[in-house]
Amino acid sequence: MAVGILLVGGFGTRLKPLTDEYPKPMLPVAGLPVTEHQVLAAKKAGIHTLVFATSYLSEVFTPYFGDGSQWGIKIIYAVEKEPLGTGGAIRNAAELLGRTEPIVIFNGDVLSRHSISDQIAFHQKNSADVTLHLIDVEDARAFGCVPTDDSGRVTAFLEKMENPVTQSINAGCYIFSPDVIDKIPLGTVVSVERETFPALVESGRPVFGYKEQSYWLDVGTPAALFKGSRDLVDGEFQAMQSTVIAPDAVITGGTSIGARCLIGAATVIDDCIIGDDVIIEDGAHLSHSFIAHGATISAGTIKNGHYLSKKLDLPIPL
Ligand code: GTP
Repeated sequence: MAVGILLVGGFGTRLKPLTDEYPKPMLPVAGLPVTEHQVLAAKKAGIHTLVFATSYLSEVFTPYFGDGSQWGIKIIYAVEKEPLGTGGAIRNAAELLGRTEPIVIFNGDVLSRHSISDQIAFHQKNSADVTLHLIDVEDARAFGCVPTDDSGRVTAFLEKMENPVTQSINAGCYIFSPDVIDKIPLGTVVSVERETFPALVESGRPVFGYKEQSYWLDVGTPAALFKGSRDLVDGEFQAMQSTVIAPDAVITGGTSIGARCLIGAATVIDDCIIGDDVIIEDGAHLSHSFIAHGATISAGTIKNGHYLSKKLDLPIPL
């Protein structure tokens, strides 16, 4: 058994304007918040308690997830008044957890189908301090890369470079041995990627990389969020329960529609992410657009590449 921490307190600046009103982890992907996809994966891996490390727009999480009983997992919340960085957030959240089980840390903006239980088993077999999920990408230049030796032991954490020495990058899911967490100072801004992990490797501590190449996507940019949603939609579109769609609406391109929406007659919708409780009136044409929860789109509206909410109408840098 294991416990977990979900890092969901960042500002999500690369996803603006989608993150102006909602925190990135709560944006819907194929009808469910990114975080909910992760809660389901954590539950599947046998994690019984999850701490949400929140900060920016922290108030949005609790009404949706409550105590987690709907998902059969205990959810508790650690709120940072000012964001503490990934390391500071982990230490702060871990104050709500015991120190007897491995602690699984999730970056809150990753969709991954890798086996978390296999990653935990690999961590335990190696008696590691930390085990990171690593993924090979075609072009690692945009990321820091993480070389390992033949046994899987991490040899360095390297910053972005023109000629990366390996294609393996940090995929944003880490297992910490419980006693290692307390090496991160409490109440201080710390980055695990830039400070904690390199310091552990430099001091010769056992840090391992667990490599698995199943579906993985960092949904940190608008284009990636749209791709993630399309990837999870099976077919031309997907709609959640209680949504009503006019028979002559044309919906394509992996569009996802949330719960309790009304999609009007003669609407044309392509490659859109539509939240819950949205009304799209007759004849609207929408493409590559994000329609936030509760928005009403007036009849005949034509938009391509826009963020539309109750209050905002802004172009998306796709
Ligand atoms: P950008 O501003 O677009 O880079 O996004 P971000 O703020 O989410 O930062 P980044 O993608 O580097 O963060 C990775 C994960 O850590 C995300 O799930 C963030 O929500 C989370 N995160 C980043 N900084 C903090 C923090 O200070 N506190 C907490 N609790 N979570 C954080």
